[in-house]
Amino acid sequence: MRMEEERAFIVDGRRLDGRAVDELRPIKMEVGVLHRADGSCYIEWGGNKVMAAVYGPREVHPRHLQESNRAIMRCRYNMASFSVEERRRPGPDRRSIEVSKVSREALEPVVFLGYYPRSVIDVFIEVLQADAGTRTAGINAASAALADAGIPMRNLVSACSVGKVDGELVLDLMKEEDNYGQADMPVAMTPRGEITLLQMDGHLTREEFERALEMAMQGCRRLYEIQRDALIRRYAAPEQPEPEKPEKPEEEPQESFEQDMEEFEESEEVSENDE
Ligand code: CDP
Repeated sequence: MRMEEERAFIVDGRRLDGRAVDELRPIKMEVGVLHRADGSCYIEWGGNKVMAAVYGPREVHPRHLQESNRAIMRCRYNMASFSVEERRRPGPDRRSIEVSKVSREALEPVVFLGYYPRSVIDVFIEVLQADAGTRTAGINAASAALADAGIPMRNLVSACSVGKVDGELVLDLMKEEDNYGQADMPVAMTPRGEITLLQMDGHLTREEFERALEMAMQGCRRLYEIQRDALIRRYAAPEQPEPEKPEKPEEEPQESFEQDMEEFEESEEVSENDE
């Protein structure tokens, strides 16, 4: 334990992977990747690979779960057994039940559930590869997948974590920082700054907490741009190239309709005179 505390995570202002303290890991996001789902999104965020799929609004089974005045939302966060170094036993465990619950609570406030009484919106988050920050990656992907499903929402929800290593606040912890750091604080919020998830593992002073929240806000703003860009890439009509002007035809132009009519009327007159 002592050795872990003495590890240097930040040297000359750079972290183990070369990032600055307020820098996110590289992120790639694509929306609409699963054709059987109503909405889907795949995110790669540093070493994380996470897929989100949304089904619904659809009929609730079992029926006794349905609400007469609104849709219910169900969220299942699952880590593939091959997603972590040591094989994870398949099936739900305490951690995945907790992450499913907080992810649902992070997303529910932006969805107009009242529009769809007696129905359910199912959100599946599948972690294929994990490297710390999977719940925030899942929330970002699920939020974009809900939008992809065309479900009316007040806004998108964006998430990222802030933590503390070597006594310094750092944005977006990777695995080593998460395991051996002094604090980990995942945050989710709308672009208007309405916080829908705030968890804390470890300790921060009040002053550190305020600075950490400010850093998380910056990170979420960047995530929002990435989500918005992914949705625009999927739905904005590609720019149409200017239609090329047709080259002047070489043969004589065809006679116009008016000319045809004139000729026709003239011939009619001739035939009338003949009679
Ligand atoms: O992934 P997130 O940071 O949201 O949740 P966590 O509970 O703080 O887990 C941090 C990391 O620990 C995960 O992202 C995984 O890389 C790793 N982990 C693991 O190796 N085996 C598990 N059974 C659970 C988590």
